[in-house]
Amino acid sequence: MICSMDKKFKPIRIGIIGAGYVGLTTGVCFSDIGHQVLCADSDSSKLERLRQGESPFFEPGLEELLRKNVASGRLRFISDNTELVANSDVIFICVNTPPKSDGRADLRYVEQVAKEIAFALPDEYRLIVDKSTVPVHTAEKVTETIRRYRPDAKSFDVVSNPEFLREGSAIEDTMRPDRIVVGASSDRARQLMREVYQPILNQTKAELCEVSIRSAELIKHGANTLLATKISFANLIADACENVGANASEVLHGIGIDRRIGEAFLKPGIGFGGSCFPKDIAAFRHTLQTVGVSPALVTAVEEINDTAYRRFLQRIERVLWVLDGKRICVLGLSFKANTDDLRNAPSLRIIRALLKEGAVVSAYDPKARAKAQHAVPEVKYADNPYAAAEGSEAIVVCTEWDEFTQLDLPRLRKLVLMPIIFDGRNVINRASAEAAGFTYYGVGH
Ligand code: UGA
Repeated sequence: MICSMDKKFKPIRIGIIGAGYVGLTTGVCFSDIGHQVLCADSDSSKLERLRQGESPFFEPGLEELLRKNVASGRLRFISDNTELVANSDVIFICVNTPPKSDGRADLRYVEQVAKEIAFALPDEYRLIVDKSTVPVHTAEKVTETIRRYRPDAKSFDVVSNPEFLREGSAIEDTMRPDRIVVGASSDRARQLMREVYQPILNQTKAELCEVSIRSAELIKHGANTLLATKISFANLIADACENVGANASEVLHGIGIDRRIGEAFLKPGIGFGGSCFPKDIAAFRHTLQTVGVSPALVTAVEEINDTAYRRFLQRIERVLWVLDGKRICVLGLSFKANTDDLRNAPSLRIIRALLKEGAVVSAYDPKARAKAQHAVPEVKYADNPYAAAEGSEAIVVCTEWDEFTQLDLPRLRKLVLMPIIFDGRNVINRASAEAAGFTYYGVGH
């Protein structure tokens, strides 16, 4: 736990605009390390739930910290950005930047918030921090917007401070980050940002990267694109392994063990999903095109990712032949483990394709059921993997939940009609599945 017992620690009045994934996690963590946090959002029903200590989404450890800090009075939720700007020395912009149809980031909410901040700016200095994932030049546009709407505003800076938190481990990633990136153009802004992050910097090994504003903005898109590139590379190797009869787990281990490369993010599967990678790399592709740099690498990463789930589906069809009327059990719906987030989840693409072919789909997910019922109501949802698998003619694993590594496979074997597993995340042990009588298909094997 990070604590603020350090005598030199000075709590800062922090305002967070946007109580989504990034904003809420950031606000909760800042209040937990001792700052005084105001968090604003335009959704009044969400604010009411948050005041009661209820998180609008599932994230391990979040609700507990939310309750603790609301109770301590260090974290408050309000609806008025003017009030927030008046009472915060550092204002974090954490609104969403959804993709436009051509992949560009839609910055209308960032601009709207910049205008609201402009009108609310007091005479005293304010530091405005871009934490939303945005393309390069956004901080400059925010500065321009504030100057345009408040030509008299003198005492403010805009900095870029991208986040690197992953859903499912957002608290840990915020409290113990590898690095804190701050893109600033004034000493005053840099100093204030050091004070904001002081407890984390003092008590963890986090590296503070103080860079130019444009560099900070590019670090964010660059990091996500490289991680996505590693995943697509793993899926490329998996394809090659399937075609030549090699084993992708062995090959990728052999590649990743080189410390220069690393094994993280080299797991093949049915492709990356979520609210970040697909959106961010499309936005980065667009930025590259705009600034006259070839986006060929990024385009290839996107193409391979799209192929990953299609190849998996083709394999299911090849093995099962006719899908019409087949009973298929899908285990795992969220785009990754430890979240209930279904945005761009490969499971949904797979389920919709199976349903289109006439398959009868049952499903189980430890956390995403409620959201999935809304997204694909045609599926029969079960309370546990065994109930979902009963009478099925194939099991399809779409999410790398830990729970699936510990399935009682002999029990599962007795429940299914046909013992076939298609493991889109390579989470089930092949030898154990085969010993229990299943025919097992992993990715890249
Ligand atoms: C990602 C980045 O990891 C964070 O650093 C970043 O802050 C965040 O985006 C963001 O921009 O907000 P996240 O989308 O939560 O975080 O999830 P990841 O853990 O990166 O996984 C993304 C997808 O890649 C998942 O669908 C996962 O199943 C897949 N994946 C991951 C693989 O297919 N193979 C791997 O080896 C790793």
